[in-house]
Amino acid sequence: MSELQSNAALPLVEHRATPAQEFLLDVIEGFSQPQKTLPCKYFYDERGSKLFAAICETEEYYITRTELAILAQALPEIARRVGPACDIVEFGSGAGIKIRLLLEGLHQPRCYIPLDISSEILEQSAAELAGQFPGVQVVPVVGDYHKPIILPEEFRQGSHHRKLVFFPGSTISNFTPEEALGFLSRIRDILNPGDGFLIGVDCVKPATILNAAYNDAAGVTAAFNLNLLERIASTFHTNLRPQHFFHHAFFNAEQSRIEMHLVSRRDQVVEIEGHRFGFRQGETIHTENSYKYSLEDFNRLALATGFTTDQVWQDPERLFSLHYLTAC
Ligand code: AVI
Repeated sequence: MSELQSNAALPLVEHRATPAQEFLLDVIEGFSQPQKTLPCKYFYDERGSKLFAAICETEEYYITRTELAILAQALPEIARRVGPACDIVEFGSGAGIKIRLLLEGLHQPRCYIPLDISSEILEQSAAELAGQFPGVQVVPVVGDYHKPIILPEEFRQGSHHRKLVFFPGSTISNFTPEEALGFLSRIRDILNPGDGFLIGVDCVKPATILNAAYNDAAGVTAAFNLNLLERIASTFHTNLRPQHFFHHAFFNAEQSRIEMHLVSRRDQVVEIEGHRFGFRQGETIHTENSYKYSLEDFNRLALATGFTTDQVWQDPERLFSLHYLTAC
């Protein structure tokens, strides 16, 4: 039998876990730790994404409106630095108002490459933006920016068009410092010297402001956090009841991060697809960290990953920072 024939006889079945199976594995792993955890990526199902959009509208959550105001003001300066006919790469959903602002404000951007894990969100936002900006080539890429980033061939390092990576919203806050280091290094890997990286970063500030932002009076952040449990309850065979937990968020000054937790209201045994987990009253599931950076700390991170800080813009109250980094 030839090699080709023998290869052809091999079964071509790939045993890849379904999203629900992956979710279950992550829940089991997270609930088996001494400090129970759940990965924050599971916040963003359809309801969670709507709740996050609602958080951005609350009075207490200053991040979205502050960044938008900084971006609008800095735009002419950003456009001058980037120059004409650039290729913009954005990580995360590109449906937002910020990318529209950037596409309008830059000098004839050539191309916009939104990279997102969800193909539905990508397709929808790419179609909308292509309609709104007919002069811009929109090239959506399905990908997970927690892993090595592969851009389409014509946008790889050899391209002579300047690239601008855009990462707004302080999403970097939800990475651990080590993950942030890895992420910035991966960004650096897809850029040429002189290319730009525009990143929004939330700043260290008094705990009262931070605690209010993650404990809004209307309870939207609490619903967002508890939605993780709603998601488990609606996906799996389980006795887990979200109402047996409550939302708790606080600023951990030592770690310079907001921590979000779900606190068990009682001693209870939660069973999920036959796996049993004991909770003591007051025991928590750690669901999210949101790191807050000083300008110096973020500058150090940029330098360590092959960038120089060209310019930083802040609002008058210094709540938020927008950094224009250049790849060295
Ligand atoms: C997406 N990320 C930057 C938000 C943050 O502020 O860390 C997620 C969030 N969690 C609670 N409120 C907002």
